[in-house]
Amino acid sequence: MRHLLTRTTRRRVVGALTAGLLGTLGLTGPAPAAHAEATAQAPAAPAAPALDDGLALTPPMGFNNWNSTHCRAEFNEEMVKGIADIFVEKGLKDAGYQYVNLDDCWALPARDANGKLVPDPVRFPGGIKAVADYVHARGLKLGIYTSAGTKTCNSAGFPGALGHEYSDAQQFADWGVDYLKYDNCNNQGMDAKLRYTTMRDALKATGRPIVYSICEWGENKPWEWAADVGHLWRTTGDISDNWGSMLSIMKQNLPLAQYAGPGQWNDPDMLEVGNGGMTDNEYRTHFSMWSIMAAPLLIGSDLRSVSEETFDILGNREVIAVDQDPLGKQGAVVSSEGGRWVVAKEMKDGSRAVALFNETGSAQRIATTAGAVGLPEADAYTLRDLWQHKSYNTAGTISATVPARGTVLLRVSADDKWAKNPPAVELGLEGSTLIEAGKAAALTTSVTDLGRTPAKRVSASLGGPADWTVKANSPTTAGVLPTGRALRTKWTVTAPAGTPPGSYELTLKASYRSPSGTRAESVLPLTASVVVAPPSGTSYLGDLPWLSTTNGWGPVERNTSNGESAAGDGNPLTINDVVYAKGLGVHAESSIEYYTGKACETVTAQVGVDDEEGSEGSVAFEIWADGTKAASTGVLTNAQAAQALSADVTGAQVVRLVTTDGGDGITSDHGDWGDARLTC
Ligand code: GLA
Repeated sequence: MRHLLTRTTRRRVVGALTAGLLGTLGLTGPAPAAHAEATAQAPAAPAAPALDDGLALTPPMGFNNWNSTHCRAEFNEEMVKGIADIFVEKGLKDAGYQYVNLDDCWALPARDANGKLVPDPVRFPGGIKAVADYVHARGLKLGIYTSAGTKTCNSAGFPGALGHEYSDAQQFADWGVDYLKYDNCNNQGMDAKLRYTTMRDALKATGRPIVYSICEWGENKPWEWAADVGHLWRTTGDISDNWGSMLSIMKQNLPLAQYAGPGQWNDPDMLEVGNGGMTDNEYRTHFSMWSIMAAPLLIGSDLRSVSEETFDILGNREVIAVDQDPLGKQGAVVSSEGGRWVVAKEMKDGSRAVALFNETGSAQRIATTAGAVGLPEADAYTLRDLWQHKSYNTAGTISATVPARGTVLLRVSADDKWAKNPPAVELGLEGSTLIEAGKAAALTTSVTDLGRTPAKRVSASLGGPADWTVKANSPTTAGVLPTGRALRTKWTVTAPAGTPPGSYELTLKASYRSPSGTRAESVLPLTASVVVAPPSGTSYLGDLPWLSTTNGWGPVERNTSNGESAAGDGNPLTINDVVYAKGLGVHAESSIEYYTGKACETVTAQVGVDDEEGSEGSVAFEIWADGTKAASTGVLTNAQAAQALSADVTGAQVVRLVTTDGGDGITSDHGDWGDARLTC
């Protein structure tokens, strides 16, 4: 992928220093080019105390234009003012969003005769001070961006602050800037700690309180040294608006929980909520997980054109309260088997925020207990659902069936008010929701009382699309369910013959009463897939309908390579000069699922890195038969010829072709499943 290649190359540029820069930074000779490696080997230093300046005591909240505009022309004064207005009008300011931040491309490429930065007169005709005044007049704050290098990251070559730290910081302060994001491009191979500390001192010298955001992408483990340098530090490379990127960043940021606290935050990059590359369910997961990780909440979508659903997500005050809790703990992983994540965050009032996050592509039961998330022993607990905005009581079990890629976010407390809430119930489903049209499928649902109190007059219902038949074959009601007991109901579900393949919604609902008679309802949205039985004989996978796909860069391509991010922009599948007329073109992290209905035997393919890449791509291939890895390669690079991969998939309902990044992060990872075939 050209785009990523450029970025990687850019970051490796190490140049000679000018005498002027050396003088400013107090160095006597060029910094060693291999600095990053040297730092990585240094022993882990104990975390330094946070900056004692009272800033960013909770994670910064606000907006930054980068994720929605990059350098495009719509990043301008009008946009920034528009966002400030919306913060006020839509209640986001009241919800805690405060900083309106400008990213790269706000300046002209050249400094003026006095070495001062010059705002781009087309984007910011009134200058930066005028924008700051506008934002301040609305009770908000303004942020700006530059790089701890000779130039910023954009290829147009905007000036960076290396060697100009004191003058640039003063200029920002004079404009009324309240927040600086300090990037890492064109850093001339100089020591990161020195570069970032110089700017810290320069900001301090202005006397203006300025939140200082270190953006060196986690390359020098800033969590180990930056607590007394900046208020937050990026822990990873850039996020992009897709599930794989968000997930991979989340997984890199989660283990760093111990380093976060008031005035010192891990920054897994800005929010993509509302930018359109994920579903609202996925964006709720993104927002839930950033909040439980006490991440900065910087909105990255153009609020002038987002949906009401986006405002509902970004404006959920109960979720924001998890992020902004004054104790300042980052949530820690309690368990993560099979992509079923439990993450718990200690809150100042003694309660725990608990995220039940389902990484997988199908609904999963995710369960923990009050004890496991750190709550004291008690008769019962109050359990608050932060997306449903409803409270229940639980005897100690915290569990739910979580939809694919969804997150149930809860706040659980050992208090004495639990009895006023109805018991929590857990909704469950057994049986496959892969349904062949015209054939009856058997499903079993369950409604289990998790409460200390009994659930009374319980009834379960299962709904599907209007023309489907959903029939209960056993009772759908129970007079009373004591703690831990379940109402189980068997159903047959039939999609009429001729129903087109695809995803359809099923809804399981339970309604019941608490002992005092209060009515409660619990709803579980489920997805059924109408599937086609696989054809018998041998077929090319590039020609068969799939169940689902995920891909790291644009869509999976049929019978061509991945190409760039648009659909249908691939090239002939080519591995080391060998061209395959049939197959699948992907980009790590990728997964393609096929319904095989226990009727198939083998999958074969010639796999490798496509020639459309430079020398950087490295991937590994896996074939899964339901939950079992049936075949895999080691890491394959661009230099290698295609490798033959063959898997026995006998008895599998679903076969999954997975392409991973080979363990080295995602750069130019174009994988080909050449000549991929399925035999049934
Ligand atoms: C880097 C940063 C991004 C963004 C761009 C701007 O890639 O990590 O967040 O600021 O530069 O060019």
